[in-house]
Amino acid sequence: KKRIILDVDTGIDDAVAVLYALLSPDIELVGITTVFGNIEVEQATENTLRLIKLANCGYEVPVAMGAAKPLARHYSGPVPHIHGNNGIGDVELPKSEQKPLEESADDFIIRKAHELPGELIIVPVGRMTNVAAAVQKDPSIAKLINRVVIMGGTVFAPGNVTPVSEANFWGDPEAAAVLFNSELPITVVGLDVTMKVKLTRQHLEQLLQNAPSEKRDVALFLQQSMDRYIQFYGESNGFLGACAMHDPLAVLVAVDPSLVRTQTLKAVIDCGHDLTAGMIITDRRFNSVIGREIDFCLEVEEERSLSQLLSVFAAPAAA
Ligand code: BDR
Ligand code: CA
Repeated sequence: KKRIILDVDTGIDDAVAVLYALLSPDIELVGITTVFGNIEVEQATENTLRLIKLANCGYEVPVAMGAAKPLARHYSGPVPHIHGNNGIGDVELPKSEQKPLEESADDFIIRKAHELPGELIIVPVGRMTNVAAAVQKDPSIAKLINRVVIMGGTVFAPGNVTPVSEANFWGDPEAAAVLFNSELPITVVGLDVTMKVKLTRQHLEQLLQNAPSEKRDVALFLQQSMDRYIQFYGESNGFLGACAMHDPLAVLVAVDPSLVRTQTLKAVIDCGHDLTAGMIITDRRFNSVIGREIDFCLEVEEERSLSQLLSVFAAPAAA
């Protein structure tokens, strides 16, 4: 099993990633850390606790609350037109008894990196503020962490906030730069691949029909929460009854890197304040000199990724 910390700004696709990670037989979810982004960090934390209750995965998964704002800028605020007023498509999930840890997200990451040397995979699917804060506090963790698999950014595909910047990089470029300038081994699962993995209304309908009884509530939540998200992808990207599985793909790649083809490129993050804020600048020249080597996912096996994702929700709960 892969030992993973998932770092989320629990919006709709984050919720799918959380449920997948909780229910996958290939993952031991060491913990979930939360960050501002799609919504405020308090609401992201609340959503996460409720999703853990919904998944009922059979083991305890600690939640540590993290950053409420970027390292060096203002938080631009939630995006209710994409993720709803509560971040999860305005679906009201039952409240959980579980409380977040007293420990902050960055301290939790540091502690687990030391407890699990060489094993821990961190999957940030929101702004990278928590992971950046952790490496700034304790640079020694860079050599202890097995890999950081980031959802965000883009190399060749268009951005989704500015023409060249993706939301998780645009929302805290300085944090992304801390990771890129560190010694952490990094894989970037960006819009080049995530925009190709599309979940359709038909998938959700089929899932609801086929889900085993113990996972019916999860299937129902997936269908209800994704309704407006699918509408948004139609209006903003011309998708036909489908939405992009950004955050789940990063978790899938952390488990099974063979789903993507990567290219190692030297890269830096633009920390300006205009259209290029958060842009990933890859140095693709023959004699590349700028930046550090990062693995970028450029191609993905869409069908296999989707079926691996859906199979976890359709399979009976592990004994
Ligand atoms: C990323 O931004 C957020 O809206 C999504 O949850 C995803 O992490 C896509 O650009
Ligand atoms: Ca996210």
